[in-house]
Amino acid sequence: MSYNIALLPGDGIGPEVTKAAVKVLDLVAGKFNVEVNYQEYLIGGNCYDKHDTPLIEETLEGCYKANAVFLGAVGGPAWENLPHHLKPEAALLKLREKLELFANIRPAKIYNSMLENSSLKSEVLEGTDFIVLRELTGGIYFGQPRGMDDDKGFNTMVYSKQEVERIARKAFEIAENRDKVVTSVDKANVLEVSQFWRNVVEEVHKDYANIKLNHMYVDNAAMQIVRDPRQFDVILTSNIFGDIISDISGMITGSLGMLPSASIGKKYTLYEPVHGSAPDIAGQNKANPIAAISSVGMMFEHSFQMTKAAELIEKSISKTLDEGYRTQDIAKENSNVVSTTEMIDLVLENLEKLFADEAIGVFLL
Ligand code: IPM
Ligand code: MN
Repeated sequence: MSYNIALLPGDGIGPEVTKAAVKVLDLVAGKFNVEVNYQEYLIGGNCYDKHDTPLIEETLEGCYKANAVFLGAVGGPAWENLPHHLKPEAALLKLREKLELFANIRPAKIYNSMLENSSLKSEVLEGTDFIVLRELTGGIYFGQPRGMDDDKGFNTMVYSKQEVERIARKAFEIAENRDKVVTSVDKANVLEVSQFWRNVVEEVHKDYANIKLNHMYVDNAAMQIVRDPRQFDVILTSNIFGDIISDISGMITGSLGMLPSASIGKKYTLYEPVHGSAPDIAGQNKANPIAAISSVGMMFEHSFQMTKAAELIEKSISKTLDEGYRTQDIAKENSNVVSTTEMIDLVLENLEKLFADEAIGVFLL
């Protein structure tokens, strides 16, 4: 088995955490006798500096050819004042659109040894494990008309039946392998587009009788996530609500530096840490590589159907945290503060141990 992976390191700490991803990919793929090849492409501010645009055709072509895409991070103060369509973030949106990555999975799971890191109480958090499934290629992010003049600014929130159907199906499918509860989050008490969303979700639900479906208004959902996060299993929501809800959910883990994500379409898949490019610590070997490493776990699970590999990656992260190692963003008084590269090596070491412990050695696929 052999996979081609497009690497898009991007800006700020993007290249540093991409290195972490590659190291873990190499080790785990090797253990499973899988060959991985990498091609690197430009995206974001760096790309703009060279080509006057944050996304070039070559990068898109590279993504189309790859079995999976890994993206580091984009953005930074140097490009903040550019017009909308030239900002690094525009490249991200274009990529999502072009690769039709309609389903964005963002897990909110707390590692036991991280309970103290969250701003929420441990007893509220313990055992929290849900995912936010965010629609990623529609809604107000992409709706037309949109625009701005001296007197007004406007965007359009629109969803077609087909768009809601496919993301709803994905939510029910994901729930099948979890606790079988989907909470669809909308604003149906005010927005027609949300009432439509709710109707279509209900319709699709008829094909998944064994899954429980709840509906929740987005304002209530935001409140419930911090009040009692354990009640959730799969949160299904639109592009903009998912953007907000997933940041709230992110803080459950204590740091955005821990959170992986997968963006999935019919043909293509892209994995990226949820955190941004953190320009303030870029190039200083301080970045937390865990989100990137965990994103590689998601790649094994969703793109290569190698759940065992994904499991071992999660275990090795958990073990490293249990041992008290922390990058500075998640450090406490008694933690062993380590650099990016040290954290990578520690996770790799634990991976090696896990492979040895389980006496798995070589896997045959
Ligand atoms: C995210 C980010 C992006 C979004 C921005 C950078 C365009 O916040 O991935 O959540 O809003 O989708
Ligand atoms: Mn966001």
